[in-house]
Amino acid sequence: MQTKRVGIEEAAALLKNGEVVAFPTETVYGLGADATSAVAVSKIFAAKGRPSDNPLIVHIGALEQLRVVVSEIPDVARALMDAFWPGPLTLILPKQENMPREVTAGLSTVGVRMPSHPLALALLREAGLPIAAPSANVSGRPSPTAEQHVLDDLEGKIAGILAEGGVAEIGLESTVLDCTTKPPTILRPGAVTKAELEGIIGAVDTLEVQEDSGSLAPKSPGMKYKHYAPSAPMTIVRGSEIFFQQVIWEAQSQGKRVGILVAEENRDRYEADVVLTCGTKRDLSTIARRLYDALRELDEHAIDVIYCEGFPETGLGEAIWNRLLKASEHRVLEEG
Ligand code: TXA
Ligand code: MG
Repeated sequence: MQTKRVGIEEAAALLKNGEVVAFPTETVYGLGADATSAVAVSKIFAAKGRPSDNPLIVHIGALEQLRVVVSEIPDVARALMDAFWPGPLTLILPKQENMPREVTAGLSTVGVRMPSHPLALALLREAGLPIAAPSANVSGRPSPTAEQHVLDDLEGKIAGILAEGGVAEIGLESTVLDCTTKPPTILRPGAVTKAELEGIIGAVDTLEVQEDSGSLAPKSPGMKYKHYAPSAPMTIVRGSEIFFQQVIWEAQSQGKRVGILVAEENRDRYEADVVLTCGTKRDLSTIARRLYDALRELDEHAIDVIYCEGFPETGLGEAIWNRLLKASEHRVLEEG
C-alpha cells in the first residue's frame, strides 16, 4: 500500500471510506479510523501491531458527536470539557451501546477527547465522524511528534497522512482522567495537570505508576503493556553533577559506550560518548516537546547504556517523569 500525503478533504474522504489516516494533534500524531466501524478500527490494530485488548481514544470535532460515543455525561466531565476542550485531556466515560468493542476492548467505558490542533479539528469536522485514534507509532516505539516519525514507523502500512502537520506542540500524550470513579482518577498524567483539574472539580486521585505487572484487570489497560524502552538500557540519575559524571566514567571504565540525555544548559558539563539534549529546565514544556524525538535519536547511536538526568517532577514534570520511568523500565540511580 502506498501512503499518500493528503490534504483535509482527501483525508476526510479516506476516513469516510473506512481507511486509516495519520494526523497531527497538539499532543502527538494520531492514527485515525472511523470509530463507528469495527472493520475500519481493526485496520489500526493491524498497522500498529497493537494488542487488541488495549482500548483506543475517540476524537470528536464537535460536542454534538458525544451522543454517538458516550451514554452519560456526569457534571464533573461537563465542567472539565468547558474548561479544557479542545485540548490535551481525555475523559473516560460510560460508552454508548453502539461503540464497537474493537474501540473499547470490551470495556463498558470509552475514552474521548476533542483535540485543539487546527488541522485535527478541521479534519474531524470535515469527516463528521468520531475518529478512534491511538498514537501513530508502531507498538513499542515512542509516540510520534513529527511527520517523519510517523513515516519511519508506518509508511506503506496506512492509506494516508495529513500533510503539513508540523512538530507536535506538547509532545506527550493527553492526560487520561477516569470520570467513572469518585473522585475521578488520573490514569495517565499529561499537559493538563492534577492542579489544573483540581482547580475545576476539586480532589482527584492519581493511579500510581506501576512496573508492568501483567495484572489481569489493570485499571488502564495501556499500563500493562511494555512501553517504549530504548534499545540500550536507560537509567535516570538523580544527584549532583559530580555524581552524574562519576556514573558515566564508571560505565566507560567497564568498556561501555555511554549516551546521555541532559538539559540544554548542561550540554557542555559532562564528558560522555554521545550527548543529546532535550529542552531546558527553565521551561518544562520544551523538554516535553523534544523528549520522544530525543529517545528516537538515541536509538540511532551505537551506545551500550544511556543515563538521563532527572528533571523537576511537579506540574508538567509529572508527565515527563512518568514517561521517563517507563522508558527506563523504572531504573533510577540516587546519589548517596
Ligand atoms: O494524546 C493522546 O491521547 C494521543 C492522541 C493521538 O490523541 N492518543 C494516545 O492514544 O495516546 P493511545 O492509544 O496511545 O493511548 C490511549 C491510552 C491507553 O493507555 C489506553 O489504555 C487508555 O488510554 N484508554 C483508552 N480507553 C480507555 C478506557 N475505556 N479505560 C481506561 N483506559 C483507556
Ligand atoms: Mg500510544
